[in-house]
Amino acid sequence: MTELLCLNKTDSNLVNEDLFEIIASNISTKGYSINFNALPVGLSESLWMHLQQMNSAKFVSAGIGRESGHQLNQFIRSDEICWINGDSEAGSAWLEWTKALQIFLNRRLFLGLFSFESHFAHYAPGAFYKKHLDAFKGESNRRLSLVFYLNPGWLPEDGGELRLYTGQQNHTQVVPGYGTLVTFLSEDFPHEVLAARRDRYSIAGWFRVNGSTPDKADPPR
Ligand code: OGA
Ligand code: MN
Repeated sequence: MTELLCLNKTDSNLVNEDLFEIIASNISTKGYSINFNALPVGLSESLWMHLQQMNSAKFVSAGIGRESGHQLNQFIRSDEICWINGDSEAGSAWLEWTKALQIFLNRRLFLGLFSFESHFAHYAPGAFYKKHLDAFKGESNRRLSLVFYLNPGWLPEDGGELRLYTGQQNHTQVVPGYGTLVTFLSEDFPHEVLAARRDRYSIAGWFRVNGSTPDKADPPR
């Protein structure tokens, strides 16, 4: 029995490490990585169930940034968000998983990722997020962006793609299907969320480097 439990644990760690290695190598060669069925099955399920149980009143309109200078408006984005802390079981399992990814990427790529923040996002039908960068060089300490989708049965005709601009003339589009994880360097990839015909759920997160100064402690809250 004990042996079995150990085996399972090793197995799930291995699955993560395989994925982490793929992400690390994609980030170092092209700056972004797209992976399907990315999270351990149990973690995706518990995040999805948590989302079902969450009172929609917990979501607040996005675009009112916590920091001054981060003020966006409803012409740029029309989603609503709910920050994830460790209060729920699903939330803390998610933070544990992203911590493991952070440690792996720091070891493998020397990114110096220091903290992580993330929120659930809900895009009602027709909602969008216009083309933007998650960080401007030298102006923010967000280094790596991550988006995870929680939309079972999403069809191509439902829209809501993430469009990632990968070059002057090129972009790649990601269908926000359940279990898909996208990671990309925050300063390097403008991206946008196209309007969907269905309610669209995702988790967006950012790893930051330490930007503490004597009068400003990281991470900002
Ligand atoms: C964001 C974002 C993408 C998505 O929240 O900054 O770009 O596909 N989200 O939800
Ligand atoms: Mn973004």
